[in-house]
Amino acid sequence: MTVPPLKKQRTQPETANARIYEATASAPVNIAVIKYWGKRSEALMLPTNSSLSLTLDQDQLQSKTTVRVVVDADGKENDAALWLNGNREKLSGRVTALLARMRALRVTKEAKDASIPRLASKPLLIASVNNFPTAAGLASSASGLACLAFAVNAALQLELPPADISALARLGSGSACRSLFGGFVAWDMGSKPDGSDSVARQVASETHWPNMCALILVASATQKEMPSTAGMQTTVETSPLLQHRIQAVVPDRMAAIEKAIAARDFDSFAEITMRDSNQFHAVCLDTFPPIFYLNHVSHRVISLITMYNQVKSKSNGRKYTVAYTFDAGPNAVLYLLKEDVAEVLRLVNSYFPNGVDAASSSAVDEYYGLSKQFLK
Ligand code: ADP
Ligand code: DP6
Ligand code: CO
Repeated sequence: MTVPPLKKQRTQPETANARIYEATASAPVNIAVIKYWGKRSEALMLPTNSSLSLTLDQDQLQSKTTVRVVVDADGKENDAALWLNGNREKLSGRVTALLARMRALRVTKEAKDASIPRLASKPLLIASVNNFPTAAGLASSASGLACLAFAVNAALQLELPPADISALARLGSGSACRSLFGGFVAWDMGSKPDGSDSVARQVASETHWPNMCALILVASATQKEMPSTAGMQTTVETSPLLQHRIQAVVPDRMAAIEKAIAARDFDSFAEITMRDSNQFHAVCLDTFPPIFYLNHVSHRVISLITMYNQVKSKSNGRKYTVAYTFDAGPNAVLYLLKEDVAEVLRLVNSYFPNGVDAASSSAVDEYYGLSKQFLK
């Protein structure tokens, strides 16, 4: 029922006595329409509210990660090194914990079977690249950490099912648990103290609403000043509006958007999506000190889409033709139906003749992703 959209591209060794254990995988981003923002447990990576996202076509936006197990290394047990987009990165506490958890699973496997190679504590060399801006509000942590968990699972030959990899990916970045599944994916917040019911669940597959598309407008490819982890921490500590959101708003919205998706009701889907993006950014503003993820280009995109929807509704009788949503960054993700993509592209091109990238004024045709058929 749930098809993992991640691709395992290569796993070695191909011969029994090979000394290199390596796997390469790629993973898609997912962009939430009901936003996750806030943790009730940092240690267990449990959210303060449920969320729901669409997994985008990884032929457009993807993380690609190679994990190599160095079997011949002497000493250096449990060592790991990570290169992200060609630069050596310090391993975060969360990635270290994720790797420790996955090594422990390998220890159990090796204890049960004396014939399999001893890989559990060998050094890991990890190299990952994103083909889209990293840490710019386009969910690089979602694709990146989903890809890491998936590739380590393959390199250490753990053979875990997608649900288990999703729970591990969550330990690296909350939003990553949704990238293990295609189509429309909920992350139910759960209520158990151990987090065992805080899991990602496919709401509808990628074929359910085949003309749904995503269009991404890059307003700035630069790294955000406030990473999501730190931003949501301050929000949980300081924002009264967040408490209202998680108690009185999100539960109804989750139910309503699942219903809209089931019925392929674009008007309802679009209104909930835009309202939730707006409220997420209102919560950021209610954080103290405030967090500003949107910039003036984002505001212009919101005005443009609002105007366009109003004008279009006179001729097509639909309330909304396009829905905007913004993650923790200034870049817009537009959800729309395939038949409207060409016109919306023309509209954006004419409205931003110098490109939507305010910093570089890049040419307008340099969008990320575009959608022949964006979801698959
Ligand atoms: P985004 O909005 O892009 O998700 P975040 O602040 O949530 O931004 O997370 C960005 C961080 O996620 C990066 O600084 C890096 O630590 C991690 N990350 C992003 N891509 C990858 C990747 N491909 N592999 C490993 N970690 C990654
Ligand atoms: C605005 O998953 O990046 O993209 O769990 O601390 O890694 P950590 O945060 P992250 O937060 C994502 C926030 C969001 C909304 C969403 O994806 O639901
Ligand atoms: Co993120």
